[in-house]
Amino acid sequence: MTQKDIDGLVDVKNGFISRELFVDADIYKQELSKLFTRAWLLVGHESLVPNPGDFYTSRMGEESVILCRDKKGEIHVFLNSCRHRGMKVCRYEQGNTSLFTCPYHSWTYTTDGKLQGVPLYKSLYDGVLDREANSLVSVARLCNYKGSIWATWDKDAPDFLTYLGDAKAHLDQALDCRDGRDGGSEVIGVHKWVFPANWKFAAENFLGDTYHNPSHRSVDLIGIGPSAVSGKKGRRDNELEHAQHVWISFPAGHGVHSAIQPEANEYIESFLDNPVLEQYFRHCYEERKRRLGDGARLMPFVGTIFPNTSYHGRQPRGLCAWHPHSPTSTEAWRFFLVDKDAPSEVKDYLRHYYMRYSGPAGMTEQDDIENWLYATAASTGTIARRYPFNYQQSMGAYTTDHPLGGELSLQVTEQIARGFYRRWASYMRDADWGELLGLPAGNREAAE
Ligand code: FES
Ligand code: FE
Repeated sequence: MTQKDIDGLVDVKNGFISRELFVDADIYKQELSKLFTRAWLLVGHESLVPNPGDFYTSRMGEESVILCRDKKGEIHVFLNSCRHRGMKVCRYEQGNTSLFTCPYHSWTYTTDGKLQGVPLYKSLYDGVLDREANSLVSVARLCNYKGSIWATWDKDAPDFLTYLGDAKAHLDQALDCRDGRDGGSEVIGVHKWVFPANWKFAAENFLGDTYHNPSHRSVDLIGIGPSAVSGKKGRRDNELEHAQHVWISFPAGHGVHSAIQPEANEYIESFLDNPVLEQYFRHCYEERKRRLGDGARLMPFVGTIFPNTSYHGRQPRGLCAWHPHSPTSTEAWRFFLVDKDAPSEVKDYLRHYYMRYSGPAGMTEQDDIENWLYATAASTGTIARRYPFNYQQSMGAYTTDHPLGGELSLQVTEQIARGFYRRWASYMRDADWGELLGLPAGNREAAE
C-alpha cells in the first residue's frame, strides 16, 4: 500500500478513519499478509496443554495452528498443514497424542513437529525426501509469558517483552495471581463464537472505549457484577469507584484503560452472603497490597495488545483473541482465567459469573456484539462507505510526562484508537520494526 493510499484511509491528525478498513476485501487481504504475519499474536495458554503430548488447535490470522507440548514437555506452535498436500494434520480442538497422522496419505509427525513416518518410504522416496526439511512449519518466535503463549511468523520481530513495552504492567495483572504473586493463572474455560463484524471493532472496544458504557445500561441497572445482589453494584465497580481512571495509548499500538486507587484504599466488603468468597477476596486484596506496596494501586481494567488480543484485568478476568474470518466476520475466543490455587468454591463462583457476563449469551457482551454487527451492516453500502468514521474525541488531551509510559489521558479519549490506526498504517506500509514499535527515529536501529 502506498503512502497516498494510506493517507486516503487513515487521517489520524484530523480524526477520521475510512469505513473501507472495516469492509473492504483487498484491505483485509493485506492485513492478513502484512500485519498478521509480523505482529505477536496470542495462541493460547500453557494450562490448556499441561501434559506431554497435549495439544490445542488455535489460529493465527485465518490459519490453523497447533499448540503442542512435546514428549519432553517443551511447548511448540506449528502450522496445522501437512507438508505433502496441505491436509490438516489435526482436526480436533484439543487432546493428547504421541503422533499427528495426516488423514490424507498418512505421513506422521511427532509432537515436536518432525516428520517421522512416510508410507512406502523405501520404495518411493529413498534418497530424495529430506525428513528434517519437511517438518511441520514452526512459528519463527514463541514466548510463554506468565503462562500465556504468544507467537509470530516474523523472525526479525523483537522479543515479546520489547513488543509489549509499557503495556506490560497492565497485562500483568490479568495474568498474575489476585494476591500479587507473579503468574499462576489457569484457563477455566473458553468461549468461542463467530460474529458478523470486522475484527477491529472488537479490538478497538477493548482499547478503552469507555464511551460506550450506555450500551450496558440495562445490565448495569440490575447490577450483575461478581458480588452483586439486586440493585447494588458489583465488586469490580466497588474497587474502581474512588480511583483515578487513566487511558493510555502505547507507541506499538497497544492501548489500555486502567485505574489508580487513592493512597488510602481499603478492602470493600463485597461477598457478605458468602463467607468463603469474602475471606478469599479480602485476603487477596490485603496480600497484594503487602507484596506490591504502592504498585498495588494500579488496577487494570481492559486493554488491547496490538493487533487482536484483548484482556479484562479485573472481572470477567481473561484474554480474548479476535480471529479474522473475512472483512465482515470474526471468530471471538475468550480464555477465562482464575488463580490455579484458588479454592474450588471461588473457581465455581467465577465460572458462573463468566457465563452470565460474557459470550453471545452473556448479558453484557451481547450488548457489545450487537453494536459491532449493526455498525458493520450499516457501513457496507455504497453511500455509507463514502463517509469516514469520526475519531475526534479528546483531540490533544493527553500527556507524555508521567511514569506509566505512552500518551496518557485522564478523560475518555479516542487517542488510543488513533494510536492503534497510526500503527496499523505502519504495518500496511511494510515499515521496519523501529517504526512498528513506535520508537523515535533516532532510536530505531536497536530494534532491528
Ligand atoms: Fe498429508 Fe498427503 S496431504 S500425507
Ligand atoms: Fe462493553
